This record gives sequence, structure tokens and C-alpha cells, in this order.
Amino acid sequence: MNILILGGDGYLGWPTAMYFSNRGYDVTVVDNYLRRNACTELDTGMLYPVPTLIERAKIWHEKTGREIKVVIGDLTAPELMRSLFNGHITYNWAVNNRFTGIPDTVIHYAEQPSAPYSIYNYHYADITVTNNLRVTNNLVWAIRDYARDTHIIKVGTMGEYGTPNIDIEEGWLEIEHKGRKGKFIFPRQASSLYHTTKIMDTDLMWFGVRMWDLRVTDLMQGPVYGIETEEMQIDARRS
Ligand SMILES: NC(=O)c1ccc[n+]([C@@H]2O[C@H](COP(=O)([O-])OP(=O)(O)OC[C@H]3O[C@@H](n4cnc5c(N)ncnc54)[C@H](O)[C@@H]3O)[C@@H](O)[C@H]2O)c1
Repeated sequence: MNILILGGDGYLGWPTAMYFSNRGYDVTVVDNYLRRNACTELDTGMLYPVPTLIERAKIWHEKTGREIKVVIGDLTAPELMRSLFNGHITYNWAVNNRFTGIPDTVIHYAEQPSAPYSIYNYHYADITVTNNLRVTNNLVWAIRDYARDTHIIKVGTMGEYGTPNIDIEEGWLEIEHKGRKGKFIFPRQASSLYHTTKIMDTDLMWFGVRMWDLRVTDLMQGPVYGIETEEMQIDARRS
């Protein structure tokens, strides 16, 4: 089974990559260090030093003998996104440079996910909106054109729903209006531009499902706490 992780250098991306690699999946990670660079630019450094993605993949290989292929690049570039599905990709690090094949599953984490950053000023708002929507749109079209059977796991957020005054139905809401009934995605009302891009992502994906029968699971995830996973222990054991 072949898994592609977009945003593999991130807080969720790297532990997910190790999790699947440890269970024998072929894993490829892609990242452009948007998060690291944004932190550097705003002088909000890391809590502790984290090796680059290529260094992490090398350490993982040393510790486990397993390979996580690495691509360093910006997924807002459609050519890069499409190359991950049509086989024209060049890996920045891999034990074996051969294309692993069309991914069975792609996990989409590659977004600017900070709410404060997204409303800090026009510049960061623009980065958030253009980055997040372009990555998602590029993914939808690459899958539409090359990989209709690939399952997209998209990590959305509870923040898409906001805080409405009625119970939140995860996913769908049945509405009766003027004597007729319909089923709609639960109304969403975000409180930051980041969360607003997540709503738009959901709508782009939902469009792809309706038009082209794409296979998408959109998880409305709450905040993830902690960094302890089984694989983190292996990763941390430096000789
Ligand atoms: N962490 C949480 O608690 C949480 C909760 C709900 C949803 N989510 C969602 O999960 C996803 C990952 O969150 P995270 O906390 O790991 O964030 P993160 O910032 O640590 O990871 C995102 C990664 O994507 C990369 N990236 C962004 N734009 C890119 C681009 N154009 N090309 C290539 N790489 C790009 C960043 O450099 C970063 O490494 C986000 O989409 C976020 O909305 C996270």
C-alpha cells in the first residue's frame, strides 16, 4: 500500500509518516518548509531543534531500515502536485529513486494552519488564502486527471462549524423548508481566515465528489495534543 503525505514536515505529518512506514507501507512525504520559514520570519523559533525533513528520513532509515521518500517542494505549483500522480516526480531523498506508483491514499495536511497568522495583516492573510486553496485545488485536479481511485484523507477542523446555537451534526443536516426537504453540509461559520480556507477546501473537495466521483474523507478534527507516539520513541533514540 502506497501512501502520500502532503505537509510531511509538520506536527502531524511526520508522526503520520513514521506510523505508516513502521507498519510496512510505502510512504512519500512532501513539504516546502512553509511552516518553518513563517516561524523564522516572525522570530517565533521552535521549542527545540528539529532536523530537516531529509535528515529525519535518513535517521528513520538508520534506525529502522525503512524508507520514507522525501520531496521538497511547493504544492501550490500544479506541475509538482501532478508529478506525484503521473510518475514524473524527482525525489530529494530516497533509498530507491523509482516511482512507487500512484498512491492508494493521500493525506492532505499541507496548509497554513495558524488562525492568528491568517488575520495578522493583509500579507499573511493572502499567503494563507492562496496557499491553502491552491494546494487543495491542485490536489483535486491531479486526482481527477490521473488517479480517480486514490482516496483523499483531508484533515479539516471543528473550527469550520464555529459555535452555532444548535447542536452540530457532523457532516450532514437535513432541512425542511417550505414543505420540501434537502440534505446539506452542516452550515459553517469560521472565526478566522485560516478556518475560512478550511471551509472552502471542504467545498472544493465536495465539488470533486459530486462532479467526478472522487473518494474523499474530510475529518473535522479538533486540536491534537501531545507528541508522544510509539514511533517518536524510535526516532528519538539516537546512537
Ligand atoms: N494540529 C492540530 O491540532 C490540527 C487540528 C485540526 C486540523 N488540523 C489540520 O491538519 C493539518 C496539519 O496541521 P499541523 O498542525 O501538522 O500543521 P503544520 O503547520 O505543523 O504542518 C503543515 C505542513 O504543511 C506544509 N505546507 C504548507 N503549505 C505547503 C505547500 N504549499 N507545499 C508544501 N508543503 C506545505 C508546512 O510547511 C508544514 O510542514 C492542517 O491542514 C490543519 O488544518 C490540525
